[in-house]
Amino acid sequence: MKINDFKLEVYFGKYEFSAPYLLTQSDCASMTIEEILNMEEGAKDSFMKMGLGYTEVPGNPELREVISSLYDTMVPDNIVVHAGAQEPIFNIMNVLLEEGDHIITQFPIYQSLFEVASSIGCDVSRWNLIDQGDRWNLNIDELETMIRPETKLIVVNSPNNPTGHTLKRNEMERIAKIARKHDIYVFFDEVYKGIELDQVKRPWFADLYDKGISLGVMSKSYGLAGLRIGWIASKDTELLEKAMRMKHYTSICSSGPSEYISTIALRNSDKILNKNLQIIKDNLESAREFFNEYKSLFNFIEPMAGPVAYVKMNIDKPIEEFCNELVEKHGILLLPAEIYSHEGQYFRIGLGRKDFKENLNRFRKVIESMT
Ligand SMILES: Cc1ncc(COP(=O)(O)O)c(C=O)c1O
Repeated sequence: MKINDFKLEVYFGKYEFSAPYLLTQSDCASMTIEEILNMEEGAKDSFMKMGLGYTEVPGNPELREVISSLYDTMVPDNIVVHAGAQEPIFNIMNVLLEEGDHIITQFPIYQSLFEVASSIGCDVSRWNLIDQGDRWNLNIDELETMIRPETKLIVVNSPNNPTGHTLKRNEMERIAKIARKHDIYVFFDEVYKGIELDQVKRPWFADLYDKGISLGVMSKSYGLAGLRIGWIASKDTELLEKAMRMKHYTSICSSGPSEYISTIALRNSDKILNKNLQIIKDNLESAREFFNEYKSLFNFIEPMAGPVAYVKMNIDKPIEEFCNELVEKHGILLLPAEIYSHEGQYFRIGLGRKDFKENLNRFRKVIESMT
């Protein structure tokens, strides 16, 4: 198989562990193993006594139970645990798609969500999020006009990386209705769910549509990326069976200790999500202040959900050059639009970390020195 480089990972490979000031991360503030285990009495003891053998391919039964309880209509058999969110993206695309199929993907979006399909030989159409100056907009009516007889899959990431846009329940229902009418699968990446700034809970897409596949993960809203635990949920158990047979070739099963810690974390889901939402809200105030001060240089569309926002820069310099100089000379990491194969003077900023204010102040000094 031939596949293009994953631009974001290549860029992060260069800077994520060497640049001192990370101002673009998409995962929320992390926690220690001890902090998670302390959330339940006896958990530490049980964890230390765990064996380290192989685990069940679809995932630990207790973990599948707690994941299914996040949904309105799922049972453990509707859940397959994977290594992070990247593994199921790769596996589901490979199980569902064939050369010549057509997919429609929301855009901009996390690269693997269309790149794997492209590597299979699918034709990829972009369903663009539109910058309306003060908000991002996804035109649901446009979706139906893009459907062809060979359209096999619609791909959505909501809350979206990089724009921070999120769909509302009625918009999700409209997507489900269109997909149902044309009998098309929908892969709905929901890895940033649970940290909506309006605090209105959206349904999971798999609860709305029988051919919907919800993607969830511990990495982002929970800030526990090191666990490498993600999952897919769907009512289509035949598809889940195929995904498991694919998983036999990718990871076989997940890490037992990670499954255990994920189970404890998800049982305390509200506590962790509320903590992370509060960090984002605090950081958002600082971001608001900063971008108000430099209105002529940047247009900041506030995120509706999740820890990332996509900022338009009005400085007369290519965005890639701006970001490269920022990291090479000043150690501050932002992500330029090029990483998303997206045209325009945008960069991604991350609002989920505790050192956001400090790093934003460093950025302020650089901007001050330029003006
Ligand atoms: C939208 C989206 N989906 C999937 C992933 C992959 O998540 P993980 O690193 O947990 O595999 C990411 C990571 O940035 C993402 O932003």
